[in-house]
Amino acid sequence: MTINKIEQNDFSNRRKTLMSHNMDGATIIAAGHNSPRNHDVNHQFRQQSDFWYFTGFEEPDAVMVLLPNDTKPYVMFTTPFDQTFAIWNGPMEGIEGIQNDYGVDAAYSIKELTHKLPELLKGYTKLYFSIGLDPILDQVISNIVTSRRSGAARDGNYITNIIDPKQTIDNMRLLKSQNEINLLKTAIDITTDGFNKALNFTKPGKFEYEIQAELEKEFRKAGSVRNGYPSIVASGNNSCVLHYTNNNSELKNGDLLLIDAGAEMDYYTADITRTWPINGNFTDLQKDIYSIVLEAQIKAINDVKPEATIDSINKTTVTTLTDGLIQIGLLTGNTEKLVEEKAYRKYYMHGTSHWLGIDVHDAGVYSKNNSFTKLKPGMVLTVEPGLYFSKYIDELPQEMKGIGIRIEDNILVTKTGNINLSQKIPKEIDEIEPLIGILS
Ligand code: GLY
Ligand code: MN
Ligand code: MN
Repeated sequence: MTINKIEQNDFSNRRKTLMSHNMDGATIIAAGHNSPRNHDVNHQFRQQSDFWYFTGFEEPDAVMVLLPNDTKPYVMFTTPFDQTFAIWNGPMEGIEGIQNDYGVDAAYSIKELTHKLPELLKGYTKLYFSIGLDPILDQVISNIVTSRRSGAARDGNYITNIIDPKQTIDNMRLLKSQNEINLLKTAIDITTDGFNKALNFTKPGKFEYEIQAELEKEFRKAGSVRNGYPSIVASGNNSCVLHYTNNNSELKNGDLLLIDAGAEMDYYTADITRTWPINGNFTDLQKDIYSIVLEAQIKAINDVKPEATIDSINKTTVTTLTDGLIQIGLLTGNTEKLVEEKAYRKYYMHGTSHWLGIDVHDAGVYSKNNSFTKLKPGMVLTVEPGLYFSKYIDELPQEMKGIGIRIEDNILVTKTGNINLSQKIPKEIDEIEPLIGILS
């Protein structure tokens, strides 16, 4: 398994590309901050995705400034080294570390931001900055704009334009480089090992969190330090709960288990779902419903190719699911009309695909000005149809209640079509059943 890292060279090229789009202004992007969990304990810190994409720097409370017209265009504000902090909490880069290892042209203490940033921005009338993400930085920028407006208004040399760089950044992130694809492949391969173990350990009487432990043990053993998102390990009716993360129910004989999980590898995440019977054998009804979802998923994956759109893939999916819902007696009427009316929404209430990368729901628009983003080689997306028959839908036949099925793969768009990067995780009924419970 090749583990590639995004290198300083990649970060530097990304900054150059961003500056080439934003030559007429300064760009500012903030790092994330710690967020309190309870009392004096923080949530595990994970860098803000855009900031990491351009810097590779993993500490909180930093600010990146790009100044394309300056001799020192790459500036970073960060927390100075603090011996006590390092003794209690671990290593930190400080000003020296960021200067030596991250290719910055100038580094300052974050405490100097309010008086140093106005100096750096002198001479720039345009600012590329996403307002509304960081209230403290919003206030700093607002103060600079106000004071320059009143102080320099007579020569017109003040910030007259603040432009959101988000769409430029999103467009960059949407097309993956070979290094990024390699990292996604590694994250997906690690996730594959986890799913196989989870299948092998599934057995009635175990708890969802025990299966989660087996799954995530494989992630950690293979070098993934965290998940891309909290694992969903959902049995019985929990499989119908789209955002289920309690993972604390006992696995019951006769129920299904749905797992939606992804290992993160150097900031790139997998996002895979499989569903299987807890006792190793699908019932006839579970088989019928599973087969509908699988057919929809395989047809949708076949549609992934250059020029297709997330909307066209979704249309294929909902048409197949609607046909299936007619077959099992939950919908009646003409497929096309039912699709138009979105009659399937009661049992399939999410979209079929999203972009995948540094964020599980990765950067990039699905449509703009009524025109859908066309797939191009190098884009990565999920295909994840499902059917969810929640026990809270009163009118459902009793035997269908509690059946929730989703099948999700991660697909790379290529020149001629696509590669299913998660195809090694079994999803055909006769491939899955023999693997269930063999290690439990
Ligand atoms: N795991 C979140 C999703 O499938 O979109
Ligand atoms: Mn997904
Ligand atoms: Mn998912």
